[in-house]
Amino acid sequence: MTARKSYRTLSGTSRLAGVMGWPVSHSKSPRLHGYWLAKYGIDGSYMPLPVEPENFQAALISLRNLGFSGVNVTIPQKEMAMPECDELSDRARRIGAVNTVTFAKDGRLLGDNTDGFGFIENLRQEAPDIDFTSGPAVVLGAGGASRAILVALLDEGSPEIRIANRTRARAEDLVREFNDPRLTVIDWPVSPDVLSDVSLLVNTTSLGMVGQPKLDIDLDGLPTSALVTDIVYAPLITGLLQQAKDRGNPIVDGLGMLLHQARPGFHRWFGIDPEVTQELRDFVLSPD
Ligand code: ATR
Repeated sequence: MTARKSYRTLSGTSRLAGVMGWPVSHSKSPRLHGYWLAKYGIDGSYMPLPVEPENFQAALISLRNLGFSGVNVTIPQKEMAMPECDELSDRARRIGAVNTVTFAKDGRLLGDNTDGFGFIENLRQEAPDIDFTSGPAVVLGAGGASRAILVALLDEGSPEIRIANRTRARAEDLVREFNDPRLTVIDWPVSPDVLSDVSLLVNTTSLGMVGQPKLDIDLDGLPTSALVTDIVYAPLITGLLQQAKDRGNPIVDGLGMLLHQARPGFHRWFGIDPEVTQELRDFVLSPD
């Protein structure tokens, strides 16, 4: 009897969700949502959904027709999901990509982007004293992740955000598009003097990730009070974070952004705003 109780099975009313991408085998989302489903004893399932880009639209509609509650969408389908949605959240529209789709009861597809939310919530949890309005931020990179973080930082009241990108034109395009006087473009590589009054430094590039070149940056000009964070979480302590830590700066690693960005979807689909804990971090990082 006790043994039977320890099994969690699906019922006829299970709620279903998953992550669509191509490939999707690298995704940590099934493990992450699976942990929360077990922790909260929810009658539901979250599965990897490998979908080739040419089948994306048909697959999305099929999942709705199959009664799924929603899906996360990962590369390269985050931009493809935008035009398929009947309604977009303000932040998804501004970021220009969707990572969370909810199938409403009336069949409409509601698109959201929770990457910026995940970024902010991670910093709030790991550095509770953070005040986004306290000084300028420097953001390295001008890709999709950068867009989400810029929108979030602007919404948090950041007084000035300096963007540095290898391909300067991409950063300039972003500034033009967002059309907010708080955004400026600075040189890549970053010179130490533009760091002297900065309170937050963020790496949104893939530099420093396992298998990628290292990020070369001279932190000499950065106040030691500035918080340094990286969206790369493999390795957890990137070269940038180690360099910052060694000179006394507070640091926050990028794993929490991944964990927190998953919360809104889980909440909508399964009815609970789940907790990000050290046990979850260890579980997501441990081998399958
Ligand atoms: P994501 O959606 O993860 O942000 P992306 O849109 O491909 O991915 O953006 C990758 C970011 O990392 C860009 O800012 C890119 O700079 P470019 O716009 O110049 O390509 C940056 N990046 C990647 N490899 C880099 C490298 N070797 N040196 C400098 N920047 C690099």
